[in-house]
Amino acid sequence: MIPYGRQDITQADIDAVVSVLESDFLTQGPQVPRFEQAVALHVGASYAIAVNSATSALHIACLSLGLGEGDWLWTTPISFVASANCGLYCGAQIDFVDIDPRTYNLCPEALATKLEKAEKAGRLPKIVVPVHLCGQSCDMQAIDALSQRYGFRIIEDASHAIGGRYQGEFIGNCRYSDVTVFSFHPVKIITTGEGGMAVTNSAQLANKMDLLRSHGITRDPAQMTHAAEGPWYYQQIDLGFNYRMTELQAALGISQMQRLDTFVARRHQLAVIYNEQLADLPITLPWQHQDSYSGFHLYVIRLQLDKIKKTDGRFLKNYVMPGWVSIFIIFRFIFNPTIIGWGLSLAIFPMLKITMLML
Ligand SMILES: Cc1ncc(COP(=O)(O)O)c(C=O)c1O
Repeated sequence: MIPYGRQDITQADIDAVVSVLESDFLTQGPQVPRFEQAVALHVGASYAIAVNSATSALHIACLSLGLGEGDWLWTTPISFVASANCGLYCGAQIDFVDIDPRTYNLCPEALATKLEKAEKAGRLPKIVVPVHLCGQSCDMQAIDALSQRYGFRIIEDASHAIGGRYQGEFIGNCRYSDVTVFSFHPVKIITTGEGGMAVTNSAQLANKMDLLRSHGITRDPAQMTHAAEGPWYYQQIDLGFNYRMTELQAALGISQMQRLDTFVARRHQLAVIYNEQLADLPITLPWQHQDSYSGFHLYVIRLQLDKIKKTDGRFLKNYVMPGWVSIFIIFRFIFNPTIIGWGLSLAIFPMLKITMLML
Protein backbone atom coordinates (compact mmCIF):
# COMPACT_ATOMS: atom_id res chain seq x y z
CA MET A 1 0.00 0.00 0.00
CA ILE A 2 1.28 3.48 -0.80
CA PRO A 3 1.63 5.30 2.53
CA TYR A 4 -0.42 8.34 3.44
CA GLY A 5 2.67 10.52 3.45
CA ARG A 6 6.22 10.18 2.28
CA GLN A 7 9.00 12.72 2.64
CA ASP A 8 11.26 13.71 -0.24
CA ILE A 9 14.88 13.35 0.93
CA THR A 10 17.83 13.97 -1.39
CA GLN A 11 21.56 13.40 -0.96
CA ALA A 12 21.89 17.16 -0.34
CA ASP A 13 19.48 16.83 2.62
CA ILE A 14 21.48 13.91 4.00
CA ASP A 15 24.79 15.76 3.54
CA ALA A 16 23.37 18.80 5.36
CA VAL A 17 22.37 16.70 8.38
CA VAL A 18 25.64 14.74 8.42
CA SER A 19 27.67 17.95 8.37
CA VAL A 20 25.85 19.06 11.52
CA LEU A 21 26.56 15.69 13.14
CA GLU A 22 30.23 16.31 12.47
CA SER A 23 30.10 19.88 13.78
CA ASP A 24 30.36 21.32 17.28
CA PHE A 25 26.67 22.04 17.81
CA LEU A 26 23.76 19.61 17.75
CA THR A 27 21.53 22.21 19.35
CA GLN A 28 21.59 26.01 19.87
CA GLY A 29 24.15 26.59 17.11
CA PRO A 30 24.08 28.56 13.85
CA GLN A 31 21.67 26.39 11.82
CA VAL A 32 18.45 27.34 13.61
CA PRO A 33 18.87 31.11 13.03
CA ARG A 34 19.84 30.37 9.42
CA PHE A 35 16.68 28.32 8.92
CA GLU A 36 14.58 31.03 10.57
CA GLN A 37 16.10 33.63 8.27
CA ALA A 38 15.49 31.46 5.17
CA VAL A 39 11.80 31.00 6.01
CA ALA A 40 11.22 34.61 7.08
CA LEU A 41 12.85 35.87 3.89
CA HIS A 42 10.89 33.49 1.69
CA VAL A 43 7.46 34.24 3.14
CA GLY A 44 8.08 37.94 3.73
CA ALA A 45 7.84 38.08 7.53
CA SER A 46 10.12 40.14 9.76
CA TYR A 47 10.76 37.51 12.46
CA ALA A 48 10.74 33.71 12.70
CA ILE A 49 10.92 31.44 15.74
CA ALA A 50 11.76 27.80 15.00
CA VAL A 51 10.38 25.21 17.42
CA ASN A 52 9.97 21.45 17.71
CA SER A 53 6.44 21.31 16.23
CA ALA A 54 3.62 23.46 14.93
CA THR A 55 1.74 22.49 18.08
CA SER A 56 4.44 24.19 20.17
CA ALA A 57 4.37 27.19 17.84
CA LEU A 58 0.60 27.52 18.31
CA HIS A 59 1.01 27.23 22.08
CA ILE A 60 3.65 29.95 22.43
CA ALA A 61 1.80 32.16 19.95
CA CYS A 62 -1.34 31.97 22.13
CA LEU A 63 0.64 32.68 25.30
CA SER A 64 2.43 35.61 23.67
CA LEU A 65 -0.93 37.11 22.75
CA GLY A 66 -1.93 36.87 26.40
CA LEU A 67 -4.49 34.06 26.13
CA GLY A 68 -5.50 32.72 29.52
CA GLU A 69 -8.32 31.60 31.76
CA GLY A 70 -11.65 33.23 31.04
CA ASP A 71 -10.71 33.88 27.40
CA TRP A 72 -12.17 32.27 24.30
CA LEU A 73 -10.28 30.94 21.29
CA TRP A 74 -12.28 30.24 18.15
CA THR A 75 -11.15 28.06 15.29
CA THR A 76 -12.51 25.82 12.57
CA PRO A 77 -14.06 22.41 13.29
CA ILE A 78 -12.19 20.85 10.33
CA SER A 79 -8.58 20.68 11.39
CA PHE A 80 -6.12 18.65 13.37
CA VAL A 81 -6.62 18.75 17.15
CA ALA A 82 -3.67 21.11 17.69
CA SER A 83 -5.53 24.12 16.24
CA ALA A 84 -7.88 24.02 19.24
CA ASN A 85 -5.66 22.39 21.88
CA CYS A 86 -3.35 25.42 21.93
CA GLY A 87 -6.19 27.36 23.54
CA LEU A 88 -6.88 24.64 26.10
CA TYR A 89 -3.19 24.58 27.10
CA CYS A 90 -3.59 28.22 28.11
CA GLY A 91 -6.74 27.57 30.14
CA ALA A 92 -8.99 29.27 27.58
CA GLN A 93 -12.31 27.95 26.30
CA ILE A 94 -12.75 26.82 22.72
CA ASP A 95 -15.53 27.39 20.23
CA PHE A 96 -15.87 26.62 16.54
CA VAL A 97 -16.95 28.65 13.53
CA ASP A 98 -18.70 26.97 10.61
CA ILE A 99 -16.90 26.42 7.32
CA ASP A 100 -17.24 27.62 3.74
CA PRO A 101 -18.61 24.57 1.88
CA ARG A 102 -16.46 25.35 -1.17
CA THR A 103 -13.03 25.63 0.49
CA TYR A 104 -13.79 23.85 3.81
CA ASN A 105 -12.03 26.80 5.47
CA LEU A 106 -13.41 28.93 8.31
CA CYS A 107 -16.20 31.05 6.76
CA PRO A 108 -15.95 34.85 7.30
CA GLU A 109 -19.73 35.28 7.00
CA ALA A 110 -20.34 32.63 9.67
CA LEU A 111 -17.67 34.33 11.77
CA ALA A 112 -19.42 37.72 11.40
CA THR A 113 -22.76 36.24 12.50
CA LYS A 114 -21.20 34.46 15.46
CA LEU A 115 -19.29 37.59 16.54
CA GLU A 116 -22.44 39.67 16.48
CA LYS A 117 -24.13 37.22 18.85
CA ALA A 118 -21.03 36.87 21.02
CA GLU A 119 -20.76 40.64 21.40
CA LYS A 120 -24.30 40.79 22.75
CA ALA A 121 -23.56 37.91 25.12
CA GLY A 122 -20.27 39.51 26.23
CA ARG A 123 -18.31 36.48 25.07
CA LEU A 124 -16.10 37.72 22.24
CA PRO A 125 -13.03 35.64 21.41
CA LYS A 126 -9.57 36.88 22.27
CA ILE A 127 -7.98 34.87 19.45
CA VAL A 128 -9.27 33.39 16.20
CA VAL A 129 -7.20 30.64 14.54
CA PRO A 130 -8.06 30.32 10.85
CA VAL A 131 -6.58 27.12 9.39
CA HIS A 132 -5.48 27.09 5.76
CA LEU A 133 -6.87 23.62 5.19
CA CYS A 134 -5.05 21.52 2.60
CA GLY A 135 -2.84 24.54 1.85
CA GLN A 136 -5.49 26.97 0.58
CA SER A 137 -5.54 30.28 2.43
CA CYS A 138 -8.62 31.38 4.31
CA ASP A 139 -10.13 34.72 3.28
CA MET A 140 -7.71 36.57 5.54
CA GLN A 141 -8.66 40.08 4.42
CA ALA A 142 -12.26 39.50 5.51
CA ILE A 143 -11.21 37.88 8.80
CA ASP A 144 -8.81 40.75 9.49
CA ALA A 145 -11.57 43.30 8.83
CA LEU A 146 -13.65 41.56 11.51
CA SER A 147 -10.72 41.57 13.91
CA GLN A 148 -10.50 45.38 13.52
CA ARG A 149 -14.21 45.64 14.33
CA TYR A 150 -14.30 43.18 17.26
CA GLY A 151 -10.75 43.39 18.59
CA PHE A 152 -9.63 39.77 18.48
CA ARG A 153 -6.12 38.69 17.51
CA ILE A 154 -5.33 36.30 14.66
CA ILE A 155 -3.01 33.28 14.49
CA GLU A 156 -2.95 31.71 11.03
CA ASP A 157 -2.50 27.96 11.30
CA ALA A 158 -0.60 27.46 8.03
CA SER A 159 0.61 23.98 8.98
CA HIS A 160 -0.57 22.79 5.54
CA ALA A 161 0.35 25.86 3.61
CA ILE A 162 4.01 26.85 3.41
CA GLY A 163 4.78 27.87 -0.17
CA GLY A 164 1.14 28.76 -0.87
CA ARG A 165 0.04 32.29 -1.68
CA TYR A 166 -2.90 34.55 -0.91
CA GLN A 167 -3.63 37.59 -3.08
CA GLY A 168 -0.33 36.94 -4.86
CA GLU A 169 1.79 37.07 -1.67
CA PHE A 170 3.26 34.18 0.27
CA ILE A 171 1.24 32.83 3.18
CA GLY A 172 3.21 33.82 6.26
CA ASN A 173 3.79 37.49 5.53
CA CYS A 174 1.27 38.18 8.35
CA ARG A 175 -0.34 41.05 6.44
CA TYR A 176 -3.66 40.08 8.00
CA SER A 177 -2.58 38.36 11.22
CA ASP A 178 -0.41 38.62 14.31
CA VAL A 179 1.37 35.29 13.88
CA THR A 180 1.48 32.52 11.25
CA VAL A 181 2.47 28.98 12.14
CA PHE A 182 4.01 26.28 9.88
CA SER A 183 4.48 22.54 10.46
CA PHE A 184 7.44 20.53 9.20
CA HIS A 185 6.11 17.08 10.11
CA PRO A 186 7.12 14.54 7.40
CA VAL A 187 3.67 14.48 5.79
CA LYS A 188 3.81 18.23 5.23
CA ILE A 189 5.23 20.20 2.28
CA ILE A 190 8.78 20.48 3.62
CA THR A 191 10.04 18.50 6.59
CA THR A 192 12.49 18.67 9.47
CA GLY A 193 11.40 15.28 10.89
CA GLU A 194 9.32 16.99 13.53
CA GLY A 195 9.33 20.77 13.66
CA GLY A 196 7.44 23.98 13.34
CA MET A 197 7.85 27.72 13.08
CA ALA A 198 6.01 30.85 14.12
CA VAL A 199 6.51 33.96 11.97
CA THR A 200 5.42 37.48 12.83
CA ASN A 201 6.04 41.13 12.02
CA SER A 202 5.91 42.13 15.68
CA ALA A 203 9.25 42.44 17.48
CA GLN A 204 7.44 42.19 20.80
CA LEU A 205 5.67 38.92 19.92
CA ALA A 206 8.87 37.48 18.42
CA ASN A 207 10.77 38.30 21.58
CA LYS A 208 8.12 36.72 23.79
CA MET A 209 7.93 33.54 21.67
CA ASP A 210 11.73 33.33 21.62
CA LEU A 211 11.71 33.47 25.41
CA LEU A 212 8.92 30.91 25.82
CA ARG A 213 10.48 28.30 23.51
CA SER A 214 13.54 28.11 25.74
CA HIS A 215 12.43 27.96 29.39
CA GLY A 216 11.70 31.68 29.65
CA ILE A 217 15.43 32.23 30.04
CA THR A 218 17.24 35.30 28.71
CA ARG A 219 20.87 36.35 28.36
CA ASP A 220 19.84 39.87 27.36
CA PRO A 221 20.80 42.28 30.22
CA ALA A 222 18.09 44.70 29.06
CA GLN A 223 15.40 42.12 29.93
CA MET A 224 16.77 41.12 33.35
CA THR A 225 15.28 42.23 36.63
CA HIS A 226 18.71 43.22 37.92
CA ALA A 227 22.17 43.76 36.45
CA ALA A 228 23.90 40.72 34.93
CA GLU A 229 26.58 39.37 37.23
CA GLY A 230 28.91 38.55 34.33
CA PRO A 231 28.96 37.51 30.67
CA TRP A 232 28.01 33.96 31.75
CA TYR A 233 24.86 35.14 33.56
CA TYR A 234 21.32 34.27 32.48
CA GLN A 235 17.99 34.76 34.14
CA GLN A 236 14.60 33.08 33.95
CA ILE A 237 12.10 35.89 33.59
CA ASP A 238 9.07 33.88 32.46
CA LEU A 239 7.76 30.32 32.74
CA GLY A 240 8.75 28.82 29.40
CA PHE A 241 9.25 25.40 27.85
CA ASN A 242 11.87 23.41 26.03
CA TYR A 243 10.34 23.71 22.55
CA ARG A 244 13.68 24.21 20.79
CA MET A 245 14.43 22.86 17.33
CA THR A 246 17.73 20.98 16.99
CA GLU A 247 20.54 21.92 14.62
CA LEU A 248 20.00 18.65 12.72
CA GLN A 249 16.38 19.54 12.05
CA ALA A 250 17.25 23.10 11.04
CA ALA A 251 19.95 21.92 8.60
CA LEU A 252 17.40 19.60 6.98
CA GLY A 253 14.92 22.47 6.88
CA ILE A 254 17.39 24.81 5.16
CA SER A 255 18.11 22.17 2.56
CA GLN A 256 14.39 21.42 2.03
CA MET A 257 13.55 25.14 1.73
CA GLN A 258 15.62 25.26 -1.44
CA ARG A 259 13.10 22.92 -3.07
CA LEU A 260 9.94 24.47 -1.58
CA ASP A 261 8.78 26.15 -4.78
CA THR A 262 9.50 22.98 -6.78
CA PHE A 263 7.51 20.87 -4.29
CA VAL A 264 4.49 23.15 -4.51
CA ALA A 265 4.68 23.40 -8.30
CA ARG A 266 4.79 19.57 -8.49
CA ARG A 267 1.75 19.33 -6.26
CA HIS A 268 -0.11 21.64 -8.63
CA GLN A 269 0.88 19.44 -11.58
CA LEU A 270 -0.45 16.39 -9.74
CA ALA A 271 -3.66 18.23 -8.88
CA VAL A 272 -4.21 18.86 -12.59
CA ILE A 273 -3.79 15.12 -13.25
CA TYR A 274 -6.20 14.27 -10.42
CA ASN A 275 -8.71 16.78 -11.80
CA GLU A 276 -8.60 15.07 -15.17
CA GLN A 277 -8.59 11.48 -13.93
CA LEU A 278 -11.34 11.93 -11.35
CA ALA A 279 -13.59 14.17 -13.45
CA ASP A 280 -16.17 11.46 -14.23
CA LEU A 281 -16.65 10.18 -10.69
CA PRO A 282 -19.60 11.17 -8.49
CA ILE A 283 -17.44 13.48 -6.41
CA THR A 284 -16.81 17.19 -5.93
CA LEU A 285 -13.25 18.16 -6.79
CA PRO A 286 -11.30 20.81 -4.86
CA TRP A 287 -12.49 24.34 -5.48
CA GLN A 288 -9.80 27.01 -5.57
CA HIS A 289 -10.52 30.65 -4.75
CA GLN A 290 -9.14 33.09 -7.32
CA ASP A 291 -7.10 34.80 -4.56
CA SER A 292 -5.43 31.50 -3.69
CA TYR A 293 -2.41 29.57 -4.90
CA SER A 294 -2.62 26.57 -2.60
CA GLY A 295 0.32 24.79 -1.02
CA PHE A 296 -1.74 21.66 -1.86
CA HIS A 297 -0.77 19.64 1.19
CA LEU A 298 -3.94 17.65 0.55
CA TYR A 299 -6.32 17.30 -2.38
CA VAL A 300 -9.81 16.93 -0.93
CA ILE A 301 -12.64 15.29 -2.81
CA ARG A 302 -16.15 15.31 -1.49
CA LEU A 303 -18.28 12.26 -2.16
CA GLN A 304 -21.69 12.93 -3.62
CA LEU A 305 -23.28 10.28 -1.49
CA ASP A 306 -26.71 10.53 -3.07
CA LYS A 307 -25.17 9.65 -6.45
CA ILE A 308 -22.78 7.05 -5.11
CA LYS A 309 -25.62 5.04 -3.59
CA LYS A 310 -27.15 4.79 -7.06
CA THR A 311 -23.94 3.67 -8.77
CA ASP A 312 -22.65 0.13 -9.18
CA GLY A 313 -20.10 0.53 -6.43
CA ARG A 314 -17.51 1.76 -8.92
CA PHE A 315 -15.90 4.02 -6.39
CA LEU A 316 -15.48 1.38 -3.73
CA LYS A 317 -14.45 -1.28 -6.23
CA ASN A 318 -11.90 0.81 -8.09
CA TYR A 319 -10.51 2.98 -5.34
CA VAL A 320 -11.19 1.60 -1.88
CA MET A 321 -11.03 -2.18 -2.38
CA PRO A 322 -7.63 -2.43 -4.14
CA GLY A 323 -6.01 -1.55 -0.86
CA TRP A 324 -4.20 1.65 -1.67
CA VAL A 325 -6.80 3.72 0.05
CA SER A 326 -6.34 4.22 3.76
CA ILE A 327 -8.56 5.83 6.35
CA PHE A 328 -6.50 8.54 7.91
CA ILE A 329 -8.62 10.94 9.89
CA ILE A 330 -12.02 11.38 11.40
CA PHE A 331 -13.51 14.84 11.48
CA ARG A 332 -16.17 15.33 14.08
CA PHE A 333 -18.23 18.45 13.70
CA ILE A 334 -18.28 19.53 17.27
CA PHE A 335 -20.63 22.43 16.70
CA ASN A 336 -23.10 19.93 15.25
CA PRO A 337 -22.42 16.43 16.59
CA THR A 338 -25.12 14.93 14.37
CA ILE A 339 -22.88 15.46 11.36
CA ILE A 340 -19.86 13.22 11.28
CA GLY A 341 -17.41 13.57 8.46
CA TRP A 342 -14.71 11.10 7.70
CA GLY A 343 -11.87 11.04 5.29
CA LEU A 344 -9.87 8.55 3.36
CA SER A 345 -6.49 9.14 1.88
CA LEU A 346 -5.92 8.06 -1.68
CA ALA A 347 -2.20 8.22 -2.09
CA ILE A 348 -2.00 7.65 -5.84
CA PHE A 349 0.88 10.06 -5.99
CA PRO A 350 2.93 10.14 -2.80
CA MET A 351 3.52 13.88 -3.01
CA LEU A 352 -0.15 14.79 -2.96
CA LYS A 353 -2.72 12.98 -0.92
CA ILE A 354 -6.32 12.84 -1.99
CA THR A 355 -8.59 13.14 0.97
CA MET A 356 -12.23 12.21 0.79
CA LEU A 357 -14.72 14.15 2.82
CA MET A 358 -18.07 12.60 3.51
CA LEU A 359 -20.20 15.27 5.11
C1 LIG B 1 -3.83 22.08 10.73
C2 LIG B 1 -2.77 21.55 11.62
N1 LIG B 1 -2.35 22.31 12.65
C3 LIG B 1 -1.38 21.88 13.49
C4 LIG B 1 -0.80 20.65 13.32
C5 LIG B 1 0.26 20.21 14.27
O1 LIG B 1 1.48 20.08 13.61
P1 LIG B 1 2.72 19.39 14.33
O2 LIG B 1 2.60 17.93 14.06
O3 LIG B 1 3.93 19.99 13.64
O4 LIG B 1 2.66 19.74 15.77
C6 LIG B 1 -1.21 19.82 12.27
C7 LIG B 1 -0.61 18.50 12.10
O5 LIG B 1 -1.01 17.69 11.30
C8 LIG B 1 -2.22 20.28 11.40
O6 LIG B 1 -2.66 19.52 10.40
